[in-house]
Amino acid sequence: MAAKKRILTGDRPTGKLHLGHYVGSLANRIKLQDEYECFLIIADLHTLTTKPNKEDLAEVPQNIRDLVLDQLAAGIDPHKVTFYVQSAVKEIYQINLIFEMLVTVARLSRLPSIKEMARNAHIEDDLMPFGLLGYPVLQAGDILMPRAHLVPVGKDNEAHVEITREIARRFNFLYGEVFPEPEVLVPEVGTLPGTDGQGKMSKSAGNAIMLSDDAKTVEQKVRAMYTDPARVRADIPGKVEGNPVFAYHDAFNPNLDEVNDLKDRYRLGKVGDVEVKKKLTVAINNFLDPMRERRAQYDARPGMVDEIIASGNERTRAVARETVEMMEAAMGLNYFRL
Ligand code: TRP
Repeated sequence: MAAKKRILTGDRPTGKLHLGHYVGSLANRIKLQDEYECFLIIADLHTLTTKPNKEDLAEVPQNIRDLVLDQLAAGIDPHKVTFYVQSAVKEIYQINLIFEMLVTVARLSRLPSIKEMARNAHIEDDLMPFGLLGYPVLQAGDILMPRAHLVPVGKDNEAHVEITREIARRFNFLYGEVFPEPEVLVPEVGTLPGTDGQGKMSKSAGNAIMLSDDAKTVEQKVRAMYTDPARVRADIPGKVEGNPVFAYHDAFNPNLDEVNDLKDRYRLGKVGDVEVKKKLTVAINNFLDPMRERRAQYDARPGMVDEIIASGNERTRAVARETVEMMEAAMGLNYFRL
């Protein structure tokens, strides 16, 4: 049997995950975990690019546990995938430095994602950290470290995978073929809107339904959801397109007949928001129930998540050492060693 192709993807440890993360990235991870050998990075060094303070760092270990537990609860199988913490695999620092030579400052400066991260972190132009400019270079290191073939990410990370491909090409051109040129995979379904209908779902905007929310919280959040503001009474025809309640029905209600019937009646002014939302609450809670069960199983075995991470770190280190050796051999950067 041929070796499986590799996936590398992951997240910064910024806290708990929500339904938008599920649609944007977890669904693909869960789907592809059998077909590929998957490495899931917890990119703690990337959080340093905008949050280098000690107080922020102190929150990282718990954020890491939350991030991994959310993914395990969502259905990622720890026997199939390798979770690891970026800072625990020191080879990434080495790979990052070499890659810094293979990309121009001009190329990085033009990326809208870097400007957006700086803006969100209230960093003015003159105060741009060198490391934030280098964010995509480090990400290229993450992806090429296990010599990954496929990178499932959200749309916002697509440009970084493009940089990664350029760095892989450049390395291979200068020193010989070491890296595959990884393909990007972005989800077909668009981004999930927030419960307030204002932009995408995000925890900081306070418009998110978390994967760890209990049934009652889901009910409350759905009840308060933004719908069609022009529809002040249930007998007025309503808009389905651009209505987050229906975007969620499309994403989480497997009963297509029910969804289509609700849409038809909504357009005709023959169903109230209350009924549409009640059915959505049921759909989302049905969707989250298996996650709640798996979460309870992990909660009953304290230490399990930490063990999964520590053994993933070990496994990843072996792969990273191999890659660094290949890089150094290709470059001839292995002189005066015993
Ligand atoms: N940049 C990703 C984010 O937005 C996190 C990340 C770091 C990543 N390294 C990666 C994603 C490698 C995919 C592959 O949070």
